[in-house]
Amino acid sequence: MAARSCLRASPILSTAVAHGLSAPPFSPDILHLHPPTEPRRPISASRMVSPRKKKTERVAGVFHSVAESYDRMNDLMSFGWHRIWKDHFVSSLNPGASSSNPPKPQRILDIAGGTGDIAFRMLHNAHVLNSNPDVHVTISDINTSMLSVGKSRSEALPASQQMALSFLPADATALPDAIADSSIDLYTVAFGIRNFSNIPAALREAYRVLKPGGVFACLEFSKVGNPLLNAAYKRWSFSGIPMIGQLVAGDRDSYQYLVESIERFPSQEAFRDMIVDAGFVVGGDGYENLTGGIAAIHKGMKPLKPSS
Ligand SMILES: C[S@@+](CC[C@H](N)C(=O)[O-])C[C@H]1O[C@@H](n2cnc3c(N)ncnc32)[C@H](O)[C@@H]1O
Repeated sequence: MAARSCLRASPILSTAVAHGLSAPPFSPDILHLHPPTEPRRPISASRMVSPRKKKTERVAGVFHSVAESYDRMNDLMSFGWHRIWKDHFVSSLNPGASSSNPPKPQRILDIAGGTGDIAFRMLHNAHVLNSNPDVHVTISDINTSMLSVGKSRSEALPASQQMALSFLPADATALPDAIADSSIDLYTVAFGIRNFSNIPAALREAYRVLKPGGVFACLEFSKVGNPLLNAAYKRWSFSGIPMIGQLVAGDRDSYQYLVESIERFPSQEAFRDMIVDAGFVVGGDGYENLTGGIAAIHKGMKPLKPSS
């Protein structure tokens, strides 16, 4: 797969290092979709794999497998809706907006940023729509195959936007120290958090790295309220999506996993409560439903003063 050969050349690691960011804090062996065959050894207690590690490995396998077909499949699976949701997500955050002159610099961390859809939109919004070139976006993802595709796509961006972009391989549940405490203005995660093996740990990390007053924003599949829409949506998810995965990407299992992970993700209210438990303050209901709840945006702010 082309993404794997990019991986060998390590453009992402060198970009990360160029931006003063450290190498990933996870074992490189989870980056292999098909681990090299080893002679079988009896499984000792120390070699038993925890459910969290298993989930991380499963997710790594899925996204290595789908990286090349990911963008095309997104359009097919959502009938293009993911573009509308992402546009709305980014414009609701309005990166680069500032009432001061010159506008304030902004540091954005796009977690589970994959092939760059959110980061590229944020750069466009900040640099072009808000004429604020002092906005830097780091695309972080645990999966170097996805980042490699994102890096290739970013080469089509204007040079000024490419210079304001960096790539960081990292696990969202244990971000590297290179992302200092209270250093980020805006933390985004789109269609990524349901794949994390430990969501509360990722929320704690988001809280740690955000500045007081900084914003956590998540776009994720959610629960559909209307029973008729829900029935149609479930039918499409569980039969249509794995079938398209098989026909277009030759990979039914990975797309079956993606559908099941949506099913297991908490409801809008339960996820909002997790965000509050992590220390964020939320406005109103704490979330906004998109297309009847097929997707939802959750936002929280790190309080200016820690609660006593
Ligand atoms: C469905 S893709 C979303 C990509 C992109 N945000 C988008 O909206 O198109 C999910 C991404 O989450 C990443 N991911 C899964 N577990 C992760 C973790 N623990 N830390 C960081 N990224 C993770 C995957 O590698 C994958 O790139």
